[in-house]
Amino acid sequence: MLRLTSALIFASLAASAVAADDFTPPNCSLDEHCPEEYPCCSVYGQCGTGAYCLGGCDPLMSYSLDSCAPMPICQSKTYKWENLDNAATNNEYLGNASESDWVYSGYPKLEDGNLLLTMPKNSVGSLFANNHYVWYGKIGANIKSSRGQGVVTAFILLSDTKDEIDYEWVGADLTEVQTNWYFQGILDWTNGDSSKVDGDDTFGEWHHYEIDWSPDELKWNVDGKTVRTLTKESTFNETANRYDYPQTPSRMQLSLWPAGQASNAQGTIEWAGGEIDWDHEDIKTKGYYYATYGEVTVECYDPPSGTSVKGDVSYDFKDNKGLDSSVEITNNKTVLASLGATGLDMDLGSNSTMLS
Ligand SMILES: *[C@@H]1O[C@H](CO)[C@@H](O)[C@H](O)[C@H]1NC(C)=O
Ligand SMILES: *[C@@H]1O[C@H](CO)[C@@H](O)[C@H](O)[C@H]1NC(C)=O
Ligand SMILES: *[C@@H]1O[C@H](CO)[C@@H](O)[C@H](O)[C@H]1NC(C)=O
Ligand SMILES: *[C@@H]1O[C@H](CO)[C@@H](O)[C@H](O)[C@H]1NC(C)=O
Ligand SMILES: *[C@@H]1O[C@H](CO)[C@@H](O)[C@H](O)[C@H]1NC(C)=O
Repeated sequence: MLRLTSALIFASLAASAVAADDFTPPNCSLDEHCPEEYPCCSVYGQCGTGAYCLGGCDPLMSYSLDSCAPMPICQSKTYKWENLDNAATNNEYLGNASESDWVYSGYPKLEDGNLLLTMPKNSVGSLFANNHYVWYGKIGANIKSSRGQGVVTAFILLSDTKDEIDYEWVGADLTEVQTNWYFQGILDWTNGDSSKVDGDDTFGEWHHYEIDWSPDELKWNVDGKTVRTLTKESTFNETANRYDYPQTPSRMQLSLWPAGQASNAQGTIEWAGGEIDWDHEDIKTKGYYYATYGEVTVECYDPPSGTSVKGDVSYDFKDNKGLDSSVEITNNKTVLASLGATGLDMDLGSNSTMLS
């Protein structure tokens, strides 16, 4: 069985791929928060500053609630793929989402006006994450999945407190798409489902996939047809006396990753339809596995009624419950001055602080 949600397994693979030799960051979890000098708990479960404090920084595992930088507010927008000028690597991005709509790792490529996320032989694939958080809204994309056992294509919303709404394609079965959701990363095996997709090949044919996420209801729509609905009402957890419904600001992520990599847990490999074949025809002819993304759209919805709205720049957490009532909208800035800065001192490393 998967011990983490698939998005988090992918994050840990990506973390080991970028780990620097000269610095072993402290780990972090709900029980063990980050220390003050490395206050931000990244989505990789490691403490640091700079990029660690941006997208994916978990306020519930960080040194304090305001260690992570505030999250850039939702922006309704249509993305086309003429160039990658609005995409930065995760070493470059410092939180200015107006400058860089996307932050990425791996090997994205443009081809025929589409975005290809590629996975060369023995790599951990590619991740393209949008820097404007969505706090309820509709995201949609035209997608052709990758193919091949062990290869997983994804189109998801993931919040910093690990609420998650997923579409995932397992390359071993090109007739269906899996749907899933999580609240605060709590694993519940009954959350997953799958839907047949019309036609016979999600790799060869374009389909339109949509996540329509409102405060009260979540719908997965494929080619304009609702294939699954989750109501907030149905997620009430009596033990915890709360709705275990995805409800915190989330980033849209497109990814391609090797769930069937031999070093992964057996359950992950089985879920992915078996071990990856690194001599697959796509590796031989193109040099990589690939998933193709066409136009991507984001339509922002209003925040839940009763939300504390004090501005229009960013979201931040005002308590540690991780519920929608924990989120406020403010004018707090989202940009760090340097890779050493954190939510606790966003100007650290700027010229003015160096002079003083
Ligand atoms: C963090 O966790 C990883 C994986 O569990 C482990 O290999 C590593 O030693 C830990 N690092 C520290 C600093 O504890
Ligand atoms: C963010 O980038 C935009 C566009 O390049 C620029 O106009 C703006 O000043 C930047 N904001 C900050 C806070 O650096
Ligand atoms: C309900 O909440 C409790 C406490 O957080 C959690 O341990 C449990 O897994 C939740 N139940 C379900 C079905 O998710
Ligand atoms: C963000 O803004 C709110 C209200 O405008 C303020 O109370 C809070 O301290 C700010 N938080 C940070 C981290 O700057
Ligand atoms: C700091 O000053 C240098 C040289 O004047 C300039 O190139 C750089 O952009 C400045 N950096 C910031 C963060 O203002």
